[in-house]
Amino acid sequence: MEIVVYHSLTGNNRVLAAEIARRLGVSAVEVEAVRRRRIWTVFADMILRRDAAIRPLPAAAHAARSAVFVGPVYDMGLAAPLRAAVAALAPGLDAYDFASLCGWRREGEPEAVRAALTAAAGRPPRRMELMAVEDMMPAADKGRVTAIAAQRIGPADLGHWSAQIDRLTAPDG
Ligand SMILES: Cc1cc2nc3c(=O)[nH]c(=O)nc-3n(C[C@H](O)[C@H](O)[C@H](O)COP(=O)(O)O)c2cc1C
Repeated sequence: MEIVVYHSLTGNNRVLAAEIARRLGVSAVEVEAVRRRRIWTVFADMILRRDAAIRPLPAAAHAARSAVFVGPVYDMGLAAPLRAAVAALAPGLDAYDFASLCGWRREGEPEAVRAALTAAAGRPPRRMELMAVEDMMPAADKGRVTAIAAQRIGPADLGHWSAQIDRLTAPDG
């Protein structure tokens, strides 16, 4: 059984997770932190490199043999609640994939995110797709961090990354 496990602060990765779950015909489970998260919680996690306590995941997540983890990239790494979910579920998984609606295409980012996943799960992802919201922004806004972080994605925008979503949801990875 496969499952989509996602975390999202401002909604972009919730939209992506719903689409991946729809295409795979599986359910999507949200990872929620025990402590309410705001943007400054994200900064504090990043600066202090701290972990986040998460609410218990449903039995279906623990029963899954394969998972697609979906969440934002922060400082070239994982959001702390998603990192906790990867660590909790990885021992029971045969394989996992990772997808992110991240901000921009940063040099070294794919390698850094892969290393963060490998550290949390104990093994690398089977497939990984980083989709940058910057891709759909006007040229003048590309590289502007505040504009990128403020960008909100709706289901109709996902066409920008259809090739990547196709790769991620293809049957035999
Ligand atoms: C504090 C902070 C740090 C970020 N760091 C990165 C980064 O290193 N690389 C990147 O591609 N995007 C980065 N982003 C952009 C987010 O990954 C992007 O806005 C994402 O779509 C937010 O997902 P959400 O709406 O599901 O919460 C950062 C955003 C914030 C707020």
